[in-house]
Amino acid sequence: MNAYAPKIFVSKTYKEQTFDLHGLDGISDAQIREHLALYAGYVKQVNVLNEELAAMTGRGQASVKDREFGDLTRHLGFEYNGMILHECYFSNLRPAADPKPSSGSGLAAALSESFGSVEQWQAAFQAIGAMRGVGWVILFQDPATDWLTNHWITLHQEGVPAGFKPLLVMDVWEHAFMRDYQATERGKYIEAFFRNIDWRTVERRLVEASAVRLAR
Ligand SMILES: [Fe+2]
Repeated sequence: MNAYAPKIFVSKTYKEQTFDLHGLDGISDAQIREHLALYAGYVKQVNVLNEELAAMTGRGQASVKDREFGDLTRHLGFEYNGMILHECYFSNLRPAADPKPSSGSGLAAALSESFGSVEQWQAAFQAIGAMRGVGWVILFQDPATDWLTNHWITLHQEGVPAGFKPLLVMDVWEHAFMRDYQATERGKYIEAFFRNIDWRTVERRLVEASAVRLAR
């Protein structure tokens, strides 16, 4: 059989998720709409890349000598994490949010164990968010030890600890806030972000055995 004969190929198609985030405090509906449109672009690119790679594989083009196959494969991590991290971000926001995790919650206990106190964790998380450059601040849990750590992720695909669970994801790329704030006002956006955290979702991510996000 000719190795390049057409074969049947299959690929995963992700669906764009919807998030009802009207009425956040300090993050406008227009800002969210614009940001969701950007997220939709990542979902689309994940699907396009998966389909192209599956088709190439089906045609026998999956070769180390094929520059296009390599380039598309290397790009998957950026598009996938662009999709996944935005889904985590939007789903850890909600209107009419509580100002902090409830004092008796497992989340408050876990933050205190790993950072000394909820307040110390928050100060560190916000300080990372204020660093120069664009990126993400993510509170991760190491499922093997239950230990929590704050991470700075610049490009979506670099620096995400394999297998760790993202508990709280904050987008500090400028597209996340520049409809509402100036480039020099990131601190105001971070304060607004903290007024809209869905702590119950963060708590659920803490206790679920695997990563929790809306996805189909
Ligand atoms: Fe974003």
